[in-house]
Amino acid sequence: MSMLDKIEPFTLDDKILQHGEEISQMLDQLRRQTFPPDAQKTLRKFPLKEVASFIGTTPENLKRLYLNEKGPVPEIGRRDQRYYDAEQIEELREYLNETGRSASKPYVPRKRSHEKLQVIAVVNFKGGSGKTTTAAHLGQHLSLTGHRTLGIDLDPQGSLSALHGFQPELDNNPSIYDAIRYDNERQDIATAIRDTNFPMLKIIPANLDLQEFEYATPLAMQTSAEGKRFFARIADQLETIEEHFDVVIMDCPPQLGYLTLASLSAATSVLITVHPQMLDLMSMSQFLLMLGSITRNLRDAGVPVQMDWMRYLITRYEPTDVPQRRMVGFLESILAEEVLNSPMLKSTAISDAGLTKRSLYELERGAIKGSVYDRAMECMLKVNNEIQDLIHKTWGR
Ligand SMILES: Nc1ncnc2c1ncn2[C@@H]1O[C@H](COP(=O)(O)OP(=O)(O)OP(=O)(O)O)[C@@H](O)[C@H]1O
Ligand SMILES: [Mg+2]
Repeated sequence: MSMLDKIEPFTLDDKILQHGEEISQMLDQLRRQTFPPDAQKTLRKFPLKEVASFIGTTPENLKRLYLNEKGPVPEIGRRDQRYYDAEQIEELREYLNETGRSASKPYVPRKRSHEKLQVIAVVNFKGGSGKTTTAAHLGQHLSLTGHRTLGIDLDPQGSLSALHGFQPELDNNPSIYDAIRYDNERQDIATAIRDTNFPMLKIIPANLDLQEFEYATPLAMQTSAEGKRFFARIADQLETIEEHFDVVIMDCPPQLGYLTLASLSAATSVLITVHPQMLDLMSMSQFLLMLGSITRNLRDAGVPVQMDWMRYLITRYEPTDVPQRRMVGFLESILAEEVLNSPMLKSTAISDAGLTKRSLYELERGAIKGSVYDRAMECMLKVNNEIQDLIHKTWGR
C-alpha cells in the first residue's frame, strides 16, 4: 500500500472468519502431517538404567535377574544394552515385590486400604504457565513408577488429551462433563475413562462440551440442590472409582471458573505452575487473591476446601536470564518451602512435544541432541520425584 492509498473500512466478521478458516486449515494440515488421524500412539522401550530407577532398584539387581533367566526377557539392543517395554516394567515390579523387600517399602507402590486416593489439581489462570506439560509428564512418570494414575483433562481446549493422541474434533469421546452435567443425560465417570499408551495411565479426555459446565452451573444453582453443590460434582464422581486408582491428576483450564472450583474441591493437593516473569507473577497474585476469597466464602458456607499439600512449581525457567532469576529469588523468599526445590528448566526437548505429541518419557534419547535430552530428563525426574515423595509422605511412608 502506498502512503496515498486511502484506508477502506471493512466488515470485521468477514475478515476474521476468513482468517480463522485459513489458519485452522493450515494447522489441520500440519497436524495431519505430524500425527495422522488414524495414528496409534505406541511407547518406546526403556533401557535398563531407566527401568531400575522407575522400579527403585539397581541396574545390577536387574542384570542378575535376566542373567538368571528370572522375570521378563529384555530385548538386546545396541552395545549389548537391555531394553524393557512398559508392560515388562510392571512385570518386573510385581516379580521383585513377591521375592524381595519388606512390607513397609514394597516395590509395588499402590495405595493400601487405609491410604486415600491422591487428587492433584494443576492450576493457575495464567495461560501458558506450563499446567498441561506438568500434568502430562507427572501422570506418565507416576504410571512408570507403578502408580495407577488417572489424568483428567478439564480444559475444553483439550491439550492434555491431544498430547495423549486424542483428537477431540475427530474422536467423539466423552469428557468429564458427561459425568458432572445436571440433566438426565449424565453418565457414570467410568464410561469416560480411556486407555493410553502407558499401561498404568488412563485419561478422561476433554472436548468443547466441557465449557457447558460454566453456563449450566449458574442456572442449576438457582433451581436445584445439585446446582448449589456444584463444587462437589467432581469429588462425588471420583469417589465411585477410588478403588481403581492411586493418583488422579487434573489439568485445569486457564480460568477461575466452575470447573476449576469443582476440581479444587475434589483435590487433596494443589500444584500451581508459575513462569518466573513479572506479568506472570502479577497474574498469579491476582489468581491467589480471587481463589482465596472464593474458598473463604465456601468455608463460611460450611464447606472448607482442605488440602494435604500445596506447592509452586517454577516452569520454563532460564537461569541465565537475570530478571527471571530475581523473580525466583523473590518467590523463594516469600513462599519458602512451598516452592518445589527443583524448577523445570526451559528446554526445546519439551516445547517440541507440542507439535510431535511426544513427551520426554516418550522421546528416545537418540531422537534429539544427547546433552539436551539428558538435561531436560534429569530436571523432569527431579521435579516428578519430589512430587512423588509428597504423595508418599501423605500416605505416611
Ligand atoms: N519446560 C519447558 N520448556 C520449554 N517449553 C515449555 C516448557 N514447559 C512448557 N513449555 C511450552 O510452553 C507452552 C505452554 O505450556 P502448557 O501448554 O503446558 O501451558 P498451560 O499452562 O497448560 O497453557 P494453557 O493455560 O493454555 O492451558 C507449550 O507450547 C509448551 O510446549
Ligand atoms: Mg493447558
